Amino acid sequence: MTTTTPLTQDELKTLVGQAALQYVVPGEIVGVGTGSTVNKFIDALAGTKDQIKGAVSSSVASTERLKALGIAVFDANEVSSLSVYIDGADEIDGQGHMVKGGGAALTREKIVAALAERFVCIADESKLVKALGQFPLPVEVIPMAANHIARRFAAMGGQASLRLKDGQPLVTDNGQHILDVKDLSITDPLAFESEINQWPGVVTVGVFAHQKASVCLLGTAQGVKTITY
Ligand code: 5RP
Repeated sequence: MTTTTPLTQDELKTLVGQAALQYVVPGEIVGVGTGSTVNKFIDALAGTKDQIKGAVSSSVASTERLKALGIAVFDANEVSSLSVYIDGADEIDGQGHMVKGGGAALTREKIVAALAERFVCIADESKLVKALGQFPLPVEVIPMAANHIARRFAAMGGQASLRLKDGQPLVTDNGQHILDVKDLSITDPLAFESEINQWPGVVTVGVFAHQKASVCLLGTAQGVKTITY
C-alpha cells in the first residue's frame, strides 16, 4: 500500500507559481505582483528570462527579487499595456473578486493590474472563499485621514486597526499607512470598492472587484485547478 503525503502550502505555492509561466507571452513585458506565492513565480520566471523582455513590478520587494535574478524591470510609465499580470491574493471568491494587500502592496498592484488585459491569480486553496471579508481588509490611507477613515468603517460595523511594523506604523512603498479592517460584510464587492474609493484620504481599498481575476490557478491536493471567470 502506498501512502502519499499531502502537499504543504509552500509546495502548493510553488506549483501555481510554475503553472503561471504558461500565461507569460514570449517577447513581452509581464506584470508581476507581490507576496510569497509571486516569489515562487518570479523564481520560475528566472528560468525562462531570456524569452521575455522584462517585467513591470508592483513593489520594491518584487523589484529587488526580479533584478537579483537578472530580469529587467520597467517603470509602469514605460508601458501602455500588458498582456498579463500575475499576482496572488488573500481571498478570492467564486466570481474572481479578491481581497489583496496582506503584503501592503495593494496600490501598486492595482495600478499594474489596470494596465493588464488579463489578471492571472495564483493561490493555494486556503484563499478560496464563498464571500469576501474573513481576511481583514487592507486599506492604504493618507496618514492624517487614518482615524477619520477608521470611524467611517466603525459606522458600518468594521473594526479598523493601523498596521504596525516593529512597533511603528508600517510605511508603504508610497509613504502611506495601512488600516486592516475586520468584521466587514462585503456582499457586493463592486459597489463596496466604489464606495470606499470615494472616501477622502483613501488611497486604495484592498477589494479587487473592478480589477478582478480573469483566471485563477488554484493549488489543491489534486493539483493545479484552472478557474476562469
Ligand atoms: C500583497 C498581496 C499578496 O498578493 C497577498 O497578500 C497574498 O500573499 P501571499 O502569496 O504571500 O499569500 O496582496 O500586497
